[in-house]
Amino acid sequence: MMRLEYPALDELAVARLAQSLACTAPATGLFFLEGGLGAGKTTFARAFLRALGVQGTVRSPTYTLIEPYDLTAEFIGRRVLHLDLYRLADPEELDDLGLRDEYEQALILIEWPERGAGELPVPDVTLSLTPETGSALSAAQARRVRLTAHTPKGTQWLRGCQIARAACRTLGIGAKI
Ligand SMILES: Nc1ncnc2c1ncn2[C@@H]1O[C@H](COP(=O)(O)OP(=O)(O)OP(=O)(O)O)[C@@H](O)[C@H]1O
Ligand SMILES: [Mg+2]
Repeated sequence: MMRLEYPALDELAVARLAQSLACTAPATGLFFLEGGLGAGKTTFARAFLRALGVQGTVRSPTYTLIEPYDLTAEFIGRRVLHLDLYRLADPEELDDLGLRDEYEQALILIEWPERGAGELPVPDVTLSLTPETGSALSAAQARRVRLTAHTPKGTQWLRGCQIARAACRTLGIGAKI
């Protein structure tokens, strides 16, 4: 399966990657955001949602578990769900969130997907963020970022994202990353 790896990205570079993934994202799919406490999962999700035109505060779904977004403007008709399963006591509680009906209708971003183990389908793409100490960036800033596609849809998505990033570089748009 396809994998993209970035050894050391600062917060701006992570946001740029989130933007490229957002504008090439499929209308429906499952996207796991992995990494320890404070790794940058919500920061990534915020940049991703902003790129899809979400305005106002993007709250972390730490307590609500799920935050839905019905997109407008050029993404009108599309729906994104942002979940954080850290506080899920039991994977079976996922049923109460009504996720089953959403797989065919929404793009679903999930922080702490491991808490829902056994109750979630295979994701299209997994993003993993880990602090990176051995880089020129300060340890507080640098993240090793891995993107892995687990389905054909995920592979298509990552290919599209690479093309978007190449186009941005060619046109001189965005930060050099
Ligand atoms: N390269 C980077 N990418 C993302 N966030 C970064 C980076 N460098 C520094 N940060 C900072 O790290 C923090 C990440 O916090 P964030 O809430 O996004 O983490 P999280 O993975 O969602 O944590 P939690 O597991 O508690 O939900 C933010 O304060 C952000 O500004
Ligand atoms: Mg978070």
